[in-house]
Amino acid sequence: MDFFIDTASIEEIKKYARIGIVDGVTTNPALIAVEDRDIESIVYEICEIIDGPVSVEVTSLEVDSMIKEAKALSAMHKNIVVKFPAIRNGFEALNSASKNGIKTNITMIYTANQALVAAKLGATYVSPFIGRLDANSTSGTELIEEIVTIYNNFKFKTKILAASMRNVIYVKEAALAGAHIATIPPEVLGQMMDSELTELSLREVLDSWRNLPEEKRSFLK
Ligand code: E4P
Repeated sequence: MDFFIDTASIEEIKKYARIGIVDGVTTNPALIAVEDRDIESIVYEICEIIDGPVSVEVTSLEVDSMIKEAKALSAMHKNIVVKFPAIRNGFEALNSASKNGIKTNITMIYTANQALVAAKLGATYVSPFIGRLDANSTSGTELIEEIVTIYNNFKFKTKILAASMRNVIYVKEAALAGAHIATIPPEVLGQMMDSELTELSLREVLDSWRNLPEEKRSFLK
């Protein structure tokens, strides 16, 4: 499973890239707005840090303007993936972008049929919003399972990018359900490496180690 980091924060991207667990980045207009910088410079900086797909979303709602934005965004850097909202105009713009060789991510997917249409139109990635779906009392994990089955039935190449991963359980469930990728907020990515039992075990073994006399513990020259 690939991990994308769901943020536009340069500091957070660098922090997790150093650990070696960032295969790509997803942003959205809200995440970019938090950084309070001009979009072009922030997107370019992200692409220089991560040599992988970087999703950036269009903000227009009309087909022609979406296509115009998509062309401008994809021209910024070879790593850019253009995100379109899963609305009728978004699907039409996605169709045009796919035909023009632009890498695409159709976002805010809440039904298996939306994911089916996206794959039929050649989307590179499809982003089911798991946390937001769960908050609406519908199982996000079941949605991933449905999309996995449909894509396997027809051998679609579109990658399932589980999004809105608001806690570590969503990530585990997305992995079990067969999502190809999860895009994960920095704090959740950090928590995936943590266990209180690991901390406790480590304290115990190091306490025993410290009981050994200093001269017997030294091995670094
Ligand atoms: C993904 O591309 C989106 O930016 C993100 O996962 C949305 O997450 P949220 O529902 O927590 O805002």
